[in-house]
Order: sequence, then C-alpha cells, then structure tokens
Amino acid sequence: MTAVDPAQSSVPPPVPPPPDILERLVSLCKQRGFVFPSSEIYGGINALYDYGPLGTRLRRNIRNAWWRRMIDLRDDVEAVESSIIMNPNVWVASGHVQNFTDPLVDCTGKCRKRWRADHVEAERRARGKDPAQVLCPECDGALTEARQFNLMFKTFLGPVEEAAAQVYLRPETAQGMFVNFGNVLNATRRRLPFGIAQQGRSFRNEISPGNFVFRLREFEQMEMEYFCEPGSDRELLDYWCKERLDWFVEDLGVRRAQLRLRAHDAEELSHYSSGTYDVEYLFPFGWGELEGIADRTDFDLKQHAQHSGKDLAYFDPTTNQRFLPYVVETAVGVDRIFITMLIDAYDEEEVRGEKRVVLRLHPDMAPYQVAVLPLSKKPELSAKAREVQGLIRGQLATEYDETQSIGRRYRRQDEIGTPLAVTVDFDTLQDQAVTIRERDGMTQVRVPLTELAAALGEQLDVMRRRAAERAAGRASAG
Ligand code: GAP
Repeated sequence: MTAVDPAQSSVPPPVPPPPDILERLVSLCKQRGFVFPSSEIYGGINALYDYGPLGTRLRRNIRNAWWRRMIDLRDDVEAVESSIIMNPNVWVASGHVQNFTDPLVDCTGKCRKRWRADHVEAERRARGKDPAQVLCPECDGALTEARQFNLMFKTFLGPVEEAAAQVYLRPETAQGMFVNFGNVLNATRRRLPFGIAQQGRSFRNEISPGNFVFRLREFEQMEMEYFCEPGSDRELLDYWCKERLDWFVEDLGVRRAQLRLRAHDAEELSHYSSGTYDVEYLFPFGWGELEGIADRTDFDLKQHAQHSGKDLAYFDPTTNQRFLPYVVETAVGVDRIFITMLIDAYDEEEVRGEKRVVLRLHPDMAPYQVAVLPLSKKPELSAKAREVQGLIRGQLATEYDETQSIGRRYRRQDEIGTPLAVTVDFDTLQDQAVTIRERDGMTQVRVPLTELAAALGEQLDVMRRRAAERAAGRASAG
C-alpha cells in the first residue's frame, strides 16, 4: 500500500502516557460526572457505561465537531439515521452472519476464563508471562481449541421467540447507508462522488471488552460511506486518511505525535475491504485503533443488489453507463474519541507545593467554556454573578458554581478542562468589572463587564491557537 502520511516522518516521537492513567481517569470521570458504570446500584454490568453530565456534554461536542467537518463544511455528504434493528437479510448479505466472528478459547484450568484467541499473546505479555506459551493468561491453565463466536446480539421481533422472528442489533451503522443508497440517490439527485453519513449506536457482544470505554458492548459510531467511480477509490482512500487524521489534530486538539496511520496487512483485512488504514493513538496499553478508513470496493452494494434483487447501479448521464459505485468508508467511535481526548488532555503539575490536575482540552471541546464563580455565597454576589452569566449564556457553554472555596472551585474547573473562569467579587458591585482566570497558565485579568464578551472571545482565540500548537507539537503542554 502507498504511504499516505508523508507528515509522519516530521512528527516528534510520541510520549508514552503514564501506565496508570486509566485508573486515574476512571476515578476522575466518576467523581466529576463524566462516566458512571451502567446500572451501578445493581453492581453494574460488564463493558457498559453511562455518561454523566460532563461526559454527555463532551460527547455532544465530539459529535458536533464531526458533523461540522464531515457535513456542514462540505457540499458532498448527506446524513441519514437508520434503524438499529434491520431486516436480518441485511446481515446475511453484508457477510456479518457468516464472517463477523472472533476466535474464542476457554481456560480449562483454575480460572475458566474466556479469551479471544488472537489476544492471548498480548494478555500474557501484559501480565508478565511468557507470551510464547499458549496458556491461559490468568492462571496458566490449558486452553481449548479456538472456535468462532459471532459478535452480533440477537433478539426477537414480535411476541414469538422463534427462529423466523430472530433479528440482530446492528454491529455497525454502515449497512444503514448501503441499503439506503438508492433512496438517497433518488431523493437528492446526487452525482458521484458523494457520501452518506450517520451517527448512532452499535452493539457487539465483544469477547474481551475493556480498557474503560475503549472496547464496549454498546457504543456509538460515526461513519461515512463515500460513493465514487471505480478506479478513483485509491486516491480517495489517501484523501480520507489525511482528512480524518487532520480532524483529530486540528478540530479536537489531539497531539499529532500520539497518532499514527497504520495500513492493515493482508491477513488483517476485513472480508469487505481491499485496503484499510487505522488511525491509531498511543494508549497506555499500546497503539490502538481510533478510526478505520477502508476501501470497501463495490462489495456491499453488489451483495445487497444480489440478495435483495434490487438494481442498485448508478447511472452516469455523461457517459450513459450504469455501474456499481465503489466506496471509501470512514468509521470512528465516539467513546474511543472520548477516552482518547481525556488521555491526551490529562496533565498533572505542581503548583505552590500542591498537585494540580488539569485537562488541557481544546477550548471548543471542553464540557463548559466558562465557569461563573461568585467569590462567596453572599446573596448580593450570587445575584450579580447570575447577571454576569446571563451576559454570556447562549454564546458560550457556562457553568455557575458557588460551592466551596474559590481555590477549590478553580481546581475543579481545571480538572474538568474549563478554559476560562469569571470571578465576581465585592469590588464588582462597585466597579462593574470581573476577573477572568485562564486554565493553562492560571493568569488573571480584570475586565469591565461591558467588555466581558469580547474579552472572553479573545482569550478563547488565544487558547485555540495554543491548542493548535500543542496538537501540532510546536509547543509544550500549557
Ligand atoms: N463499518 C466498519 C466498522 O464498523 P470497525 O473498525 O469495526 O469498522 C469502527 O469499527 C470504529 O468503531 C472503530 O475504529 C472504533 O472507534 C469503534 N468501535 C468498534 N468497536 C467498538 C467497541 N466494541 N467499543 C467501542 N468502540 C468501538
């Protein structure tokens, strides 16, 4: 495969994240309200999570950033929202019933755990055991022969639980775009090349989920199928690899040095792909897939045309030819971006002898952009601070907080990545001015209320530039 990432050689080497960063993040996420274990009061349920107030905001910002770059700023991509449960023949045609399997082995020793056969070596290495020995990573027990396990969740449509009523929860959103290709084409009168995109939940009964929200059994995908003329697919694959990599760096502020593009080798390719690249991030457990960009050729449209009996060909009015378009797919998970952004933004430093935790999130991605903090709970200050919040609400995402000491409130805002805090003090009542405190350098400036909106805008611009420099590797954190 051609090298599509010429910038890679000029990128500084990655910095390995602290090995215990996931534990630190799990605790921060729980405490501050980013992520909770699902159904926690009942003891939780494996590999399923709920997002709390801050996590929900961050995820919404991720979805919006994707939507903006993939749809709003382009002329050639339409969106759909297809159903999670589809006609089961979709999954026969797509190859998922036959091929969407992972090899599974069982421990026959003490622990009786179940493993993905292709993960055993890495799991043994992670536990400090000899990776060359094909034994249970947990207890060194013998493992069974591998058998294939289909990852699709099954359920029944209607009241009778019989084979004829069996349906699947979708394991990817992509098929919703393929089966609607003809509908979108007719409704929009699009010419090639154009894309169909979708954000939505997918479900996989993963054998070895884990690493917090990295591998889940219910997750959210953002996928785009770019339909094009056969022969233009390789160039478009390169184009989309660059475009998607740039998005992480430019729009999300993820450090370029921590990302790489890796081509799948022949054995790794999915059944539908003639070429795939992964955008990978250096997680504490090693390089891991963040997004997949694949040349799916005409595999899916051909399969659906055959299985449905419908003509899904495209008619090119300039050449009078009919053909099945090729497809380049971009496929990423919201939850994976979420965990990536937290790892990438997490920083600890010592300030006046105390540890300060700060999430150096891109200012546009942070759950809140501005915290409004009255110096104390005195009613006259609260009233003024509410008034100040009213001046900026609607333009920026604001949070009002009057609990605890001001120092602790600044620390909390640092920990959740809020770029700016506006402090309302007793002087404000006299001079109609407030203090803006910035997250990264902790600098403070006093501005008149009449200039507050403009001053916040300028400070956010400075922070956007700094985020861009940090992501590109042109400046150290901060
Ligand atoms: N339509 C192609 C497709 O679904 P994939 O590589 O299996 O390709 C695409 O999935 C993306 O979806 C991955 O790069 C990842 O970001 C996300 N994803 C896949 N499985 C996931 C899981 N179990 N938990 C969280 N995210 C997942």
